Amino acid sequence: MTIFSLGLDELRQRRSLKWQTFDPDVLPLWVAEMDVAMLAPVREELEAAFDRGDTGYPAGTSYPEAFADLAAASWDWQVDAATQIRRGGDVMNSILCVIEAVTDPGDGIVINTPVYPPFHQVASGYRRRLVDVPLTADGRLDPAALEETFSSQRPKAYLLCSPHNPTGTVHTAEELAAVAALCERYGVTLIVDEIHACLVDPGTTFVPALTVPGAERAVMITSAGKAWNLAGFKAGLYVVGPEATDLFDRLPPLASQSTGHLAAMAHAAALRLGREWIDQVGAEIADHKELLAGLLASLVPGAEYVVRPGTYLAWVDCTALGLDEPARHFLDSGRVAFSPGHNFGSEHRQWVRVNLATSPAIITQAVERMASSLRGR
Ligand SMILES: Cc1ncc(COP(=O)(O)O)c(C=O)c1O
Repeated sequence: MTIFSLGLDELRQRRSLKWQTFDPDVLPLWVAEMDVAMLAPVREELEAAFDRGDTGYPAGTSYPEAFADLAAASWDWQVDAATQIRRGGDVMNSILCVIEAVTDPGDGIVINTPVYPPFHQVASGYRRRLVDVPLTADGRLDPAALEETFSSQRPKAYLLCSPHNPTGTVHTAEELAAVAALCERYGVTLIVDEIHACLVDPGTTFVPALTVPGAERAVMITSAGKAWNLAGFKAGLYVVGPEATDLFDRLPPLASQSTGHLAAMAHAAALRLGREWIDQVGAEIADHKELLAGLLASLVPGAEYVVRPGTYLAWVDCTALGLDEPARHFLDSGRVAFSPGHNFGSEHRQWVRVNLATSPAIITQAVERMASSLRGR
């Protein structure tokens, strides 16, 4: 039995953003929600809480401890839940709280376009200066360009996405160490979003940023929200390097109070009891990437897709198709919704992001719709 086997009739009952934004004839492969049933142990945890009427405020440290256990088992990373981890609200709001603590209005914050759109908003929407150091053409970090920017623009923080959304790049230990060293040298606070950490293809090693030399003062934000499809339950974690524990005293006063009690229970259950499940997700997603690559090669040969090992997202270059706005074209003429590239970076208008956390049948239908929308143009 595969995890990504839900059919359209079932999925169209959902009330979430992915399924409610477009008309019912549109296939939605856009926002990062997964077309999966809830993991059984998470459901059991929540049902037990409902039975107890246990809907108050969160207590205790079982969510941070569940993360520390997973980090030790998955990445051989010994992180001390008591001193290095605190609960937060969702991941983006936790990042916002860190930015509030380590920068002032007007300060520069570095991002690497193309990147998850709220990364642009947490800087420019909150009176900080957005400083872009684009990924290289093959989707990698560019330490030389980062150094040049750190020295000329003197940013205060660097918001790194690891693994990278939308390209699926998994940064290497060497790249992360180079970045951490630069941050130390130029006094830039390294803030790493690792919400996609557990979503890597089999055989790929994810390296937690806080494990590389030089990252002792870095901050990482995560949750089980992406990998276990729990975005509806708001609960993030602040994880700090061993020399950054003072950050907890500098966070805004309510930074650790917006965790939902049910959410913390759901995320902790996923981290503790959903490890085999996530391995199967990784294997199925790797197959979906190959499926997409094959379908595009035969049905939409102008669309270029480089398979990368992180996330369940595919970043597809549609430049050769000669469309004004590819995502708009595929929506209007193909009735299939992808995320438009320009949301991720102004240089990427010709790209679309495809969400592969769905069934092979839906992926196949989506590419067939792309192909038919291009016929007779
Ligand atoms: C890199 C990244 N960070 C954060 C989020 C959102 O997390 P949250 O809903 O916990 O704010 C997403 C969602 O897709 C994401 O891709």
